[in-house]
Amino acid sequence: MVKGLIFDLDGVIVDTAGYHYLAWKKLANEIEIDFDEKFNESLKGISRIESLDKILIHGHRQNIFSTDEKMLLAERKNDYYLNLLSEISPKDILPGVLDFIQQAKEYNIPCAIASASQNAPTILNKLDIDNYFIAIVDPTSLKKGKPDPEIFLRAAELIDVPPHLCVGFEDSIAGIQALNQAGIYAIGIVAEGPLPNADKAVHSFTELDINSLLK
Ligand code: BG6
Ligand code: MG
Repeated sequence: MVKGLIFDLDGVIVDTAGYHYLAWKKLANEIEIDFDEKFNESLKGISRIESLDKILIHGHRQNIFSTDEKMLLAERKNDYYLNLLSEISPKDILPGVLDFIQQAKEYNIPCAIASASQNAPTILNKLDIDNYFIAIVDPTSLKKGKPDPEIFLRAAELIDVPPHLCVGFEDSIAGIQALNQAGIYAIGIVAEGPLPNADKAVHSFTELDINSLLK
């Protein structure tokens, strides 16, 4: 019996995954690093600063920048990202998501957000769906990011539902791994590559029926 729902944000609730890609690509190209969609897949679900480290390693530039310079690069990427986000509105909620969370609310099933993004509260507010989530994990409070299960275990704790009674929704390989390790049933929202370790995979929430899921 499912008693709680835990959602990743980028690429699950809203199509911001493409904006992260564009912002990182702009920054990477400025520091002369090639950046393509295939490499971008390995950054999904990964925090801002860890993503930058992976990009620098990928471009063989890992020893060039000081810690302070890296902070500035991460900030610059976030500025590009926020600029792309400026026009975001409820019309950008991915298909089927709004119906799904509305039904969860009617059924009194608590919902939480477990996203690596520090921009999650701002985005939920812009989408006008923040009142559907009783908890948003603060990613800066975690010891380890995805694929570590900590973020999902924290979300389960915040909604007061044991992990094995929760269902989690993820679009990233790292996020599915985190759900697997947390002992949470993992539903993969597939965009680009496959998510082989998901317990179930769909292309959008329109393929999901909350009544069968809650049984
Ligand atoms: C994740 C995205 O949800 O959040 C990553 O999949 C992103 O691509 C990470 O890097 C951190 O986001 P932000 O908004 O804090 O830079
Ligand atoms: Mg995601």
